[in-house]
Amino acid sequence: MTVRVEQVSGPLRGELEVPGDKSVGHRAVIMGSVARGETRIDNMSAGADNSSTVAAFRSMGVRFRREAGTLCIEGKGWDGLQAPPETVDCGNSGTTMRLLTGLLAGRPFDVTLDGDGSLRSRPMKRVVEPLTRMGARVTGNDGRAPLEIHGQPLHGVDYSSPVASAQVKSAVLLAGLQAQGATRFEEPYRSRDHTEIMARGFGASVESNGREVVVRGGQELSGTRLRVPGDVSSAAFLMVAAAVMPGSDVSILRVGCNPTRGGVIEVLRAMGADIEVTRAWEEAGEPVADFRVRGGELRGTEVPPELAPRTIDEYPVLFVAAALAGGSTLFRDVGELRFKESDRIATMSRELSKMGVRMEVNGDDVSVEGGGKLEGASVESHGDHRVAMALAVAGLSARGGIVLSGEECVKVSFPGFFESLEKIGG
Ligand code: S3P
Repeated sequence: MTVRVEQVSGPLRGELEVPGDKSVGHRAVIMGSVARGETRIDNMSAGADNSSTVAAFRSMGVRFRREAGTLCIEGKGWDGLQAPPETVDCGNSGTTMRLLTGLLAGRPFDVTLDGDGSLRSRPMKRVVEPLTRMGARVTGNDGRAPLEIHGQPLHGVDYSSPVASAQVKSAVLLAGLQAQGATRFEEPYRSRDHTEIMARGFGASVESNGREVVVRGGQELSGTRLRVPGDVSSAAFLMVAAAVMPGSDVSILRVGCNPTRGGVIEVLRAMGADIEVTRAWEEAGEPVADFRVRGGELRGTEVPPELAPRTIDEYPVLFVAAALAGGSTLFRDVGELRFKESDRIATMSRELSKMGVRMEVNGDDVSVEGGGKLEGASVESHGDHRVAMALAVAGLSARGGIVLSGEECVKVSFPGFFESLEKIGG
């Protein structure tokens, strides 16, 4: 499907919320499904990725129901899961596949996990390797999906991960909770810690210290009640849209602002953006805030490697911010972008070049030449939700607007994205 994004003539204004955080939503459903007792989740996103996780557990015998806006899960403990009758389809969702691989490696049945073309092309060895060291039997198609999991008893591991990936860490922790003995996981930079926070909310004991997490095996989880904060990765598109447009004044309310996800705010502020926290509190152990973004002129900056794990999903829209800023911006060590829903270095440079943007790739570093003038063009999402939304934000500032094809993938994480843009004047 195709959408036309017009160039806007004036500033963006308004106040809105974004759907529940996708990462937090996955973890709430996963833990609610293996906890004992009822779990009630408010503000669960209706995005396709979260729905893939719900459907996966439904196929393993877990009962879900909707009560008004609340998703209710009847948890029957780890042993409540049953072998699914057929292959579990993880859709486009890397988090579903990787976290379920860890969880199911320790369950006493066989499962096959599969996904769409994009998910089949993404690396799974990074989770299979540590799980194998815990005694798991997982076979893939040369390290890719479909993955066949032959669940069995696991033992703890002391694992130092070569990549800073919350999906790898979470897979190991979900296996570790069921394993015999303790599991220690260390990563090169600290990745998002939603699994650790969520597990504690379900009554588990998880010790973390910077880049290191330790979990004891044999722990039961207990059902709980929680509200999922708004997704900062979705809010990021609206933040950039407002920040690059002088005179804009947009408030985005009830957004999760866990520091392990805060790179986009740090980078935009380094570029001179005016982002104010107008209210801050905590929900389900996660920091949450209302943000007010006022538009102005941005300037180029250098984004250091250590920011990558906490900025990883926001680089596509930050490339757009950089293209609209004065001067150039250097994004260092962003090679992980090649393993996302698309190769986001390739897809963003290809599409932004159609709009006259110069992006240079040097090994794992990307530099974007600013200058502020974007040309109208026909661009393509490559089936990647974040590429689609980043290009739409670019379209608001492109001469004559853009035509974006493959827009339907925004439903993966942000159903209602285009309506939200319209609400603030896009
Ligand atoms: C996620 C972790 C990140 C991120 C993805 C969601 C998660 O992936 O890109 O969108 O929920 O754990 P990696 O952990 O592979 O970097």
